[in-house]
Amino acid sequence: MWKPLSMPMLTSCDGSIQLAGAVGVSNCPGAPRIPFFMGRPAPTEASPDGLIPEPFDSVDTILARFSDAGFSAAEVVALLASHTVAAADTVDPTIPGTPFDSTPDLFDSQFFIEVQLKGTLFPGTSDNEGEVMSPALGEMRLQSDAELARDSRTACEWQSFVDNQAKLKSAFADAMKKMSLLGHNVDDLVDCSDVIPTPQDLPASAGPHLLPSLTMDDIEAACDDTPFPSLTALAGPATSIPPVPPS
Ligand code: HEM
Repeated sequence: MWKPLSMPMLTSCDGSIQLAGAVGVSNCPGAPRIPFFMGRPAPTEASPDGLIPEPFDSVDTILARFSDAGFSAAEVVALLASHTVAAADTVDPTIPGTPFDSTPDLFDSQFFIEVQLKGTLFPGTSDNEGEVMSPALGEMRLQSDAELARDSRTACEWQSFVDNQAKLKSAFADAMKKMSLLGHNVDDLVDCSDVIPTPQDLPASAGPHLLPSLTMDDIEAACDDTPFPSLTALAGPATSIPPVPPS
């Protein structure tokens, strides 16, 4: 799982956070190699409150906030591919390390599939701000992810990643590069992308699928333009997804 990087990417300073993020992502099979530029000046003040969207913010608020920073709705969806290798420690503090999909070690499209499944349970307690029901024990679903997957402005882009690993990789790498250069002139920075290891490909056994015991009837398709790709479930009974161990 991509542990070292979280939202501070938006305000990173000398490059060490970005380096940690790019190297962290490179450990996840299926990930793109994220470009890394060095030489940011040190920050001069703390970032203002409200800079980073919250999981309980509306889609309007989230898209407006990212738009302020120059990101389109499609780029927001691409950036959220980060949640395919992520977990929550604080949304429900009774279950730290709860991943957002069933394959937190892989940079695959399961996050985009599983967020589109009907929510049926809370993996821990049920009264956490910014959390909605998920489709599986051991899996956390953020309200923001659920709403972006179902909003007419973002649903088709969301769905487009389900069976397109090449697009998932390239769109994420492009959006990450854009975010890493936010507020900087690329000519003032040094391109150190060569130090980032090349991630492994996804294992042959990986591929878009439904969780065991589920069917396409459990998909809440939200893109009016294109049918949701037809997927089959992994064999076996429904299982619980294990937490991500602390780093
Ligand atoms: C709509 C905007 C977003 C919202 C509302 C959001 C919200 C969250 C929340 C609530 C968590 C769980 C934190 C915890 O409980 O430990 C999380 C984890 C994470 N997010 Fe996001 N996120 C957003 C966008 C992004 C973006 C743009 C990136 C990077 C490109 C990102 C990368 C991550 C990562 C890597 C984690 C896991 C952190 C860890 O395991 O320590 N998120 N996000």
